[in-house]
Amino acid sequence: MDYENIYIEEENHLATVFINRPKKLNALNRQTIAELSNAFQELDEDANIKVILLTGVGEKAFVAGADISEFASFSVEQGRTLAAQGQNELFDAVEKMGTPVIAAVNGFALGGGLELAMSCHFRVASENAKMGLPEVSLGVIPGYGGTQRLPQLVGKGRAMEIIMTAGMIDAQKALSYGLVNHVVTLEELLPTCKKLASRISNNSSVAIKHAINAVNAGYSYDVDGYQVEINAFGTCFGTKDFKEGTTAFLEKRKADFPGS
Ligand code: COA
Repeated sequence: MDYENIYIEEENHLATVFINRPKKLNALNRQTIAELSNAFQELDEDANIKVILLTGVGEKAFVAGADISEFASFSVEQGRTLAAQGQNELFDAVEKMGTPVIAAVNGFALGGGLELAMSCHFRVASENAKMGLPEVSLGVIPGYGGTQRLPQLVGKGRAMEIIMTAGMIDAQKALSYGLVNHVVTLEELLPTCKKLASRISNNSSVAIKHAINAVNAGYSYDVDGYQVEINAFGTCFGTKDFKEGTTAFLEKRKADFPGS
């Protein structure tokens, strides 16, 4: 698939996905969502890619939200479909990916932009980043999982305040809330994320995939996360990565994981 609104850079085992509509502050229109959905699926299936970074082009925005111009005239049914399709195709799909996805939040992450960053497995922000869910100022609510993931990350009371005020919090406040894991200068944002990615890619990608699934299971109302953990723990004992990881430790050498 040829992409118009995103591009991907690959180096070693790392893929960086850039959202590329800077004139519209990287707002997510239908096409961008479809392109991201396709790109993430392909990258997740690529055994060579061990970590994915997601960021926005330019110095101003990660993503300033869903593209308001596209849904301003939608009906009730179209609104419901928009949220359902988006959650299914992109936001839930990113969260469930076996390949770790880090959001490099390089500016505004508003509405669907913050929801996309929250779907990633964790977030690093630049000092100029501003985050919020301004939907109620438009007469609507977050529709791409924001009412669920924001309370998970920052707690119910803080999430309620952020959603009800429709305001923005800066990077330092996001750090103190646990919404982002690190705050660095804009220049250091991608290098910092790449260092984290490199540390992650030294580990067993098979075990990481199971860990992501087990962590996510704890946030599913119909799944027993502890049981998922027990099953995945056992499954790991049958992998080549486990054999290599434990053997390398006992032989006092660095593991070279086959990834299976
Ligand atoms: N959807 C569609 N277009 C958007 C957008 C969005 N969510 N966010 C920004 N844009 C567009 C603007 O319409 C403008 O386009 P134009 O130059 O063709 O008029 C361009 O991006 C630049 O934005 P602008 O508002 O001029 O930049 P700013 O620096 O003055 O303000 C923001 C930045 C982020 C505060 C402001 O753009 C904003 O409030 N955006 C909407 C945020 C939002 O409500 N998101 C949730 C959507 S559910």
